[in-house]
Amino acid sequence: MAPESSPEIYTEKFTSRAVRRKSPNNVQSIKLFAAIIFIGAYGLVCYQIGASSRPIETAVHIQTPEYSYDAPEHSFEYQNEISPAPIRELDESQLPYKCGVVFFYHIPSTGGSTINKWLLNFTPKYGGDIKYFTHWGGHLNISDGDKVQKAFISGDNGGMNAFVQDLGPTEWRIAHCHHNSLHLNESEHLLESWGSEVEAQGCHFVGNVMFRESLSHTLSLYKHLDRYGVTEEDWTRHLKTESELGHWATVLDFFLYNNLARNPYGVSKEEKVRRGLELLQRHFDIVTVGDHARYKETLLRMTGWEDRDMPRHNTHSGELIFTKEQVEELQKLLTANGDIDFISEVQKRYG
Ligand SMILES: *[C@@H]1O[C@H](CO)[C@@H](O)[C@H](O)[C@H]1NC(C)=O
Ligand SMILES: *[C@@H]1O[C@H](CO)[C@@H](O)[C@H](O)[C@H]1NC(C)=O
Repeated sequence: MAPESSPEIYTEKFTSRAVRRKSPNNVQSIKLFAAIIFIGAYGLVCYQIGASSRPIETAVHIQTPEYSYDAPEHSFEYQNEISPAPIRELDESQLPYKCGVVFFYHIPSTGGSTINKWLLNFTPKYGGDIKYFTHWGGHLNISDGDKVQKAFISGDNGGMNAFVQDLGPTEWRIAHCHHNSLHLNESEHLLESWGSEVEAQGCHFVGNVMFRESLSHTLSLYKHLDRYGVTEEDWTRHLKTESELGHWATVLDFFLYNNLARNPYGVSKEEKVRRGLELLQRHFDIVTVGDHARYKETLLRMTGWEDRDMPRHNTHSGELIFTKEQVEELQKLLTANGDIDFISEVQKRYG
């Protein structure tokens, strides 16, 4: 018997008022509307004015005149050693699959809330018939993180372990994985076993994830400073340590460690990038960087579900102000953390 999962449906709350942190002197004014960020071939990062028409999900619109500076060196020499295995290819002749589990690994502030709301459209609450499972919790406490993960795996109603059992011959289900639901680097074996369970039933396990360009992701997260009552210094402190629990995680750190302390084994950034790409290659069929249209189109092709609109949710309409130095400092930290290389490799591989 398939267990009755009790979907927990939620919305993240953002403050939307303008946040100004620096005097207008040498200030880059960043509006959360549309991102135009160019990473130049020679390591130059330029910001350009973009015309904002309609709000899109916490992307970054930089209003100031264009400027550029020497970004820290990239370390692309190692790219050929990163992960020799090719990415997972879809066998189009098999599509749509007739049954399966859609597993959405939701990285905060990447446009994931838009995807989650769209997935919920297919569930009974919104007139669909697809079962949905999620269990997620807060962060800032490693013990709490482990409790949340345990409940996601096998808690009340059986967790994911039960959710992947007893699929009907044409049945689809949706699992949503968010804060502390799964600490992917260390819990890969679980994803593996859920995938095998589903495949043993002749169905397909569709791992999917949305990434975002890492600098605009980090900048957009500054909207949370007031909510946590912390300073900018507190906000980035964990990125200057070898491994520490921070108030937020970068895209790569969240993908690997979710909300636990970043880099608990003190590995090199090259190893983090390699591991991230390996996890994608092994378990994820849909991987995009901010491309909601491609996400939707691919998922519909795989599942055969009827098309539905995907309106943007969780957009932040406030204004965040940064100095040029702050942006440069963040770029350096993100480069040292592996994020810049990771997203660049993801874009190369997945388009
Ligand atoms: C973290 O959670 C554990 C167990 O729930 C609790 O004992 C501990 O006091 C919490 N720590 C903090 C700093 O809140
Ligand atoms: C992932 O976790 C394993 C232990 O399960 C550890 O040995 C490895 O260094 C970690 N990898 C990364 C990239 O942190």
